[in-house]
Amino acid sequence: MGNTLWHGRFAGGPSEALQALNDSLPFDQRMFREDIAGSRAHVQMLADVGLFDPEDCAAVLAALDTVEAELEAGTFEFAASDEDIHTAVERRVTELHPAGARIHTGRSRNDQVATDLRLWTRNAIDQIDSLIERLQRTLLAHAESVGDAYLPGYTHLQQAQPVALAHHLLAHGWALQRDRSRLADNRARLNVSPLGAGALAGSSLPLDPAQTAAALGFDAVFDNSLDAVSDRDFVAETLFDLAMLGVHLSRMGEELILWSSSEFGFVTLDDGFSTGSSMMPQKKNPDIAELARGKAGRLVGHLTGFLTTLKGLPLAYNKDLQEDKEPLFDAVDTVCLTLLALDGMVATVTFEVETMAVGADSPYSAATDLAEFLVNRQMAFRDAHAVVGELVRKALAGEGSLVDLVAASPELGPEAADLLAPGVSVARRTTHGGGSAQAVAAQLERFRRVLNR
Ligand code: ARG
Repeated sequence: MGNTLWHGRFAGGPSEALQALNDSLPFDQRMFREDIAGSRAHVQMLADVGLFDPEDCAAVLAALDTVEAELEAGTFEFAASDEDIHTAVERRVTELHPAGARIHTGRSRNDQVATDLRLWTRNAIDQIDSLIERLQRTLLAHAESVGDAYLPGYTHLQQAQPVALAHHLLAHGWALQRDRSRLADNRARLNVSPLGAGALAGSSLPLDPAQTAAALGFDAVFDNSLDAVSDRDFVAETLFDLAMLGVHLSRMGEELILWSSSEFGFVTLDDGFSTGSSMMPQKKNPDIAELARGKAGRLVGHLTGFLTTLKGLPLAYNKDLQEDKEPLFDAVDTVCLTLLALDGMVATVTFEVETMAVGADSPYSAATDLAEFLVNRQMAFRDAHAVVGELVRKALAGEGSLVDLVAASPELGPEAADLLAPGVSVARRTTHGGGSAQAVAAQLERFRRVLNR
């Protein structure tokens, strides 16, 4: 059993129960690269301000390289006394060179862990951004290849008005774009270095926080040391961004579940991205989509759980803050896995465009077009709505087909009845951002532009 970092002050060692509860090494070791990067920047800064002998600095930097290589290779031997990744790295560096004992000069684990986690989160955001973009490009590729195909659009899950399939696919693409934009805003806000804040109050030593900030690629330095070590807003924001993204993926998942049912029959799933039943030979199940729906609950849980952890914490660092990592890591892992699998599922889906068209061509879906036909003939929309509504009611009551009733109507007539022909209604919604294939052409252009900037 090695020494604790505070062995000078304590007569006895830590109890087993304390260690089991307190140690964060099992989950924070995945921040080793960030921890070592932070130490490199810190040690170099210490040397530049004259707090570290240049030879010792070179030796410690070399030891940090060794430690990183050991951790990368999985040959690093953790000691029972390694409470967290910060302790483990420092302990091993000091084993490799006695000047390791100077590495923590002017630094606390409080500013160190805040620095590491910001670096880790920054990198995670970059990875998630490219995975979201990948799914957006899959949606775009489908939107470009499905041509004029259309399906019923729904409100209240009741057939409403037909829309181009490309339009529907891009709707998800735009939601994902907002997810990326939120993550980018968050990334800009979190890219501020807490290193140099010390435990909470700065340092009596001539540290240069601007130097370490620049070396680590941060855009700015903390303004207030108390805030620097106690701020975990960026974790909460990231958890929100990922929960929101998870909710979007869940909604896409739900549609794939509905669409792949025999009741809808709008898509056929690829064998590689669906599962079978252990008992019912005929089954093909949309497990990926269901997990996308299910995982959203866990992501929302991480957000609410962590906000609850933060609530009521006094300044500055409190050990409660160690609870930031597990929800964050799990949320990132969950989102990455889900994005990849859902992308594969969406990429390989077959759209059953004929089935879609059958639903969309129900004459009732064009009822709004009939009302708008009357509006074009100067009737007030409310009155037009009532005229068409009455015909719909008669048709549903079996008094004739809607087409015949419209053709026979004194207000509407045969010209209006033509609006009920297959494919007519969907083509008429040509306004900006609307659902016709013609309007979608401009939208596709805007979407491509957003993806390529
Ligand atoms: N493992 C700790 C964490 O994750 C590091 C900070 C410990 N600081 C302290 N004063 N005990 O938050």
